[in-house]
Parts: sequence; structure tokens; C-alpha cells
Amino acid sequence: MDTISDTLIQSIRRKRANGDEEYAKPFLKWAGGKSQLLTEFAARLPVELKEGLLTRYIEPFVGGGAMFFYIIQLFPLNESILCDKNPELILTWETIKKDVTGLIRLLSEMQVHYYSLDEVDRMSYFYEVRDALNDEQKSFDYTKFNETTVRRASQIIFLNRTCFNGLFRLNSKGEFNVPFGRYKNPTIVNEKNLKKISALLSNTSFIQGDFNTCLEYAGKKTFMYLDPPYRPLNKTSSFTGYSSEGFSEEDQIRLADFFVNADQAGSKIMLSNSDPRNEDPSDHFFDDLFRDYHIERILAKRIINSVGEKRGAINELIIRNYQ
Ligand SMILES: C[S@@+](CC[C@H](N)C(=O)[O-])C[C@H]1O[C@@H](n2cnc3c(N)ncnc32)[C@H](O)[C@@H]1O
Repeated sequence: MDTISDTLIQSIRRKRANGDEEYAKPFLKWAGGKSQLLTEFAARLPVELKEGLLTRYIEPFVGGGAMFFYIIQLFPLNESILCDKNPELILTWETIKKDVTGLIRLLSEMQVHYYSLDEVDRMSYFYEVRDALNDEQKSFDYTKFNETTVRRASQIIFLNRTCFNGLFRLNSKGEFNVPFGRYKNPTIVNEKNLKKISALLSNTSFIQGDFNTCLEYAGKKTFMYLDPPYRPLNKTSSFTGYSSEGFSEEDQIRLADFFVNADQAGSKIMLSNSDPRNEDPSDHFFDDLFRDYHIERILAKRIINSVGEKRGAINELIIRNYQ
């Protein structure tokens, strides 16, 4: 274990626990968020990152960006490229970079209004915002940045803070369909954190699209962290080979090809995924795909059956092209 990274992480955690907001943290709760595993990942970062020799960071499946926030605040980088297929997510990251003041204003108005309501009216307001977001979705122009983008970002953050389980999930039509969550006084706007994030994003660019788009940026001074949707663990009779985000086994294979290409371009790469051998010890899917690389199994705590009740310690895979 790398004790320097460990100590740093523990110090960040302690400061946060004490209410110290020196460090920016993810602004969305995101399915598959990696905050819990950061210590394990941090212990396996390339030494060149700490030495300042890797100056470009690429995260092709950024989600809420737990790893990005860790890396950008501890290591010297010249630029970052963050990518995700989800247009609502990228729109929100872009808004924090480009108009954090406008976003904070809208979120503050929403928070004041929300706090003034009783639970029944809070629920109606939640569904009003949800309907507005979904009604606009088909005609929304994601290619332009203007005040409607900022408004949409405020709706997304508001829904993420007030919905059931605090997750952002879209159905197959791309609509947000999570129901109302009964939180007492959820923090809808964290002004300090948003401002800090905005400042951190000055040398960050965003890509909305498939991970493969990132390949052209892979180079010698690059570190890449890949956190794709998990390969489903339970092979039930209705098993389709797709994760809830529509990421198929074929996509996992495409990603392995991407890994090889980025490796050949000289990048240092770390990938994490669920370990299929938790369920079926004879399933060597990832062992075969990444047989030329360094594969490790670490313990992670997460929901492991489809009903979502059984939690336990299971293995997570970490695959790297460096030791
Ligand atoms: C496991 S999550 C990443 C979580 C992230 N590491 C965090 O800490 O929040 C996987 C992400 O991949 C995105 N995604 C799914 N298919 C994709 C694709 N083909 N290309 C790029 N991103 C994709 C999803 O929208 C989701 O945000």
C-alpha cells in the first residue's frame, strides 16, 4: 500500500468529517459512484502521477467523478478530459464550469421555495420539476449553451438531492423516473462546493458520447481511469447480457480493445469492474480479455443480488497496464 496516498485520503476524510470544506466533493450522487473504493484505487495510482510526469487525465465514464475530484486536488495536471454518454450529466458538469453563479442563483431559489412547503406540497413541486425536465427532453438542444442549459442543470441537481435514494436514473426513453424521496431538509445548494468545483474545472473539457471518442487524446503523458457500467452479476433466466445502462458484453469487449489501443499510445490505464467470479468461479471473462495485463481482486462492499437486500463483501477487479 502507498502510505502517502493513504495518509492524504485519511486527512481529507477527517477534514470533511469535521466540516472542513477545503476540498471539493462530487456534486451528484451517482449510481456506481466510487467514493468507497478510493483508498484502494489511490494505493495503485502510477508513481509518475505523483512525480508530475503524467499531466493529462482522462475519465471516459466520469459519472459523478469521485476519482477525478481526488486526483485533480492532489496531483499536478495540465488538463483533464471527462466523458460520459449521459447528456444530462455532461450538461450539468458544463454548467458548473461555465455559469456557476447562475446555477447557484436558481438552486438557491429552489431551496428557499422547497423549504417553505409542507411535505405534500414538496412532493407536488418535485413532480412539477420532474415533468418539466422530461417534457423538454425531446426538443432540448444539448449542443448549445445558454440559460435553458443552466435551468436544466438546476432541475437535475434539485431532483438528485430530493428524489428517492438520491440517485439519477433514466428509463429507456431517457426520462428521469425516480420517485420523490422524503428527506427532512436536503441540501439543494452547496454554494461553496459548487464554486470550488467550478474553479477546478478551468482546464477541463467535456465529451458527451461513447468512451471510444477519448482514444484520440490518449498519449504518453496521460493517465486514464476506466469505470464502465458493471457487467451484470446475476445470470438469471432473463439475463440479456446488458447492464441497466445498456452496456453489453460486446461493449466490455470493445472496451478491452480500447484499453489495448490506449496502452499502445503510451497511456497509463486503470480499469475497475465487478468480478464475475463472485457468482461463478469458472467465469474467466475478464481474466481472458485482459490476460496481458496486471489483474487484482480487492474486497468491496456492495449490493450483490437482484433484490438488492443482501449486502456483502465481494471482489472488485482492478486492472492496470503498469505495476
Ligand atoms: C459506473 S458509472 C461511473 C461512476 C463514476 N466512476 C463515479 O464515481 O460516479 C458508469 C458511467 O458510464 C456511463 N456510460 C454508459 N455507457 C457508456 C459509453 N458507451 N460510453 C461512455 N460512458 C458510458 C454511464 O452514464 C455512467 O455514468
